[in-house]
Amino acid sequence: MDLCIIGSGYVGLVSGACFAEVGHHVICVDNDQRKVDMLQAGKIPIYEPGLEELVHRNVAAKRLRFTNSIQDGVDHSQVVFIAVPTPPQTDGSVDLTYIERVAREIAGVLRKGEYRVVVDKSTVPVKTGEKVEATIKRYNREASFDVVSNPEFLREGCAVPDLMKPDRIVIGSSSQQATDLMKRLYEPFKAPILVTDVNSAELIKHAANSFLSLKISYINAVAAICEASGADVEMVADGIGMDKRIGRNFLNAGIGYGGSCFPKDVKAFIAIARQLGTPFSLLEEVERINAHQLPRFIDKIRESLWVLKDKKIAVWGMTFKPDTDDVRNSVAIDLINKLVAEGAQVTAYDPKGAEKAVEWNLVDPKKVRITATPLEAVEGAEALVLATEWKEFANQDLEKVRSVMHTPLVFDGRNLFDPDTMRQLGFTYCPVGRPNVKP
Ligand code: UGA
Repeated sequence: MDLCIIGSGYVGLVSGACFAEVGHHVICVDNDQRKVDMLQAGKIPIYEPGLEELVHRNVAAKRLRFTNSIQDGVDHSQVVFIAVPTPPQTDGSVDLTYIERVAREIAGVLRKGEYRVVVDKSTVPVKTGEKVEATIKRYNREASFDVVSNPEFLREGCAVPDLMKPDRIVIGSSSQQATDLMKRLYEPFKAPILVTDVNSAELIKHAANSFLSLKISYINAVAAICEASGADVEMVADGIGMDKRIGRNFLNAGIGYGGSCFPKDVKAFIAIARQLGTPFSLLEEVERINAHQLPRFIDKIRESLWVLKDKKIAVWGMTFKPDTDDVRNSVAIDLINKLVAEGAQVTAYDPKGAEKAVEWNLVDPKKVRITATPLEAVEGAEALVLATEWKEFANQDLEKVRSVMHTPLVFDGRNLFDPDTMRQLGFTYCPVGRPNVKP
C-alpha cells in the first residue's frame, strides 16, 4: 500500500521504516528541511538500534523516501499518518498546535473525490480525533476522508522490534472502509488487532502509559519500605511479579521514570480527567512518588559522603534509559545537575547521550567533565553513581574500576550490579531498595 507519515521524529521515522520493511511504499514528510536533507543523504538524526540499516535497505529498495512537501505525501498515499510532537504546556495539558496545523495543511491538499484515511499516531488527549475531523471539514468541505486513531506503543531503545512484533495494534475508527484499509496495512505484522471507537483508542494510550508509570511508582514506594525494613525490593518484585496477573515487567525500582513520554502522559491524563470533571488523584500520587526518588537517592549519597561540595563524583549514564541517545527529561541529567549545584566535581560518561546533553544545554560542560570512556570518569573518584543501566556498564572490568577510584563506593540508581559480586570485589555498594553491602 502507499502511505505517508507526517513528522519524522522517533515515532514517524521508525514507523515509516518498518512499514517499508514489510513491503509498503512510504513517504516520510517533515517540515524541518535540515532533517529531510540529512535523511536524503542517508544520515539518521536519532540513535535507535537497527534503524539505520532498515532505512538504508528500504531507501535502496525504493520503498522509502523523504520530502518536505505534504502535498507530495498526501497525493501519493491512501493512508496519511500524523506523527508530530504533542508537547506538554505549563499546566500539564497537551499542546495540540502541531496537530491542528497539520490537520489544516492536510485539508489544504486533499483533492475532491480522492478518499484518504487520516490516521493520528501521536499521543493525544481523548476527543482529539473529533477535532481533527472537524478541522479538516472546516478547511475543505469537499474532502472525502475518515479520521482514525492508531496509537503507537513502541519504546525508545527497542523501537524496531516493538514495531515489527507489537503486542497489539489498536485501530480506533468509526468507518468500515477506513478499518478495512488499516487492517490491510497491518496484515504483514501478524499481530492481534483491536478495533475500537476513536475516543477509546486515544484513551488506551494515555491509560497504558499511566498504568506503566503507576507500576514503577508502586515498586519505588515498596523500595522505600524495603530500605526502612531491611528487605530486598528485587526479591519482592520477583515474588509479586511471578503472579501472572501482576507480571514482573516494569517493576524495576530505581531513581524514577523519565523520558519524553511517561512524565508528559501522566500529567496530560491528570489534566484530561480534571477537564472532564473526573479527577484522577491516584495519578497525582504516582507523580509525587516519582519526584521523590531522586532526592531520596541523593540523601543516600550525602549519608556516605556528608558534604558533597568538592567531592569527586563519577556518573555513569546520561540518557533516560539505555540504548538511546535521548536525554530529554532524563533523571540522570537531573542527578548530575543536582550534584553540580551542591558543588561536587562531576565527571560523566554515557555511551550515546553526552553529545546531545551538551548540544541541548542540559549540562554545562564547564561544570561537568565529560569523558570518552567509563574508566576515565571514575579515575580518582570518591564515588561512582550509576544512573542509566547500559549493558556497557554491566560489562566493565570492575576490579580495574575499583583500582582507579579514590574510594570504592558505588551508588547504583538502577540496581544493575549484583551485591555479592560487588562486596567480593571490595566495594561499598548502595543500591535502591536493597540492603547496602560492605566488603
Ligand atoms: C514508553 C512506553 O513504554 C511505550 O509503550 C510508549 O509507546 C512510549 O512510552 C511512548 O509513549 O511513546 P519509553 O518512554 O520509550 O516508552 O521508555 P520505557 O522503557 O517505557 O521507560 C520509561 C522510563 O521508565 C525510563 O526512564 C525507565 O528507566 C523507567 N523505568 C522503566 C523504570 O524506572 N522502571 C521500570 O521497571 C521500567
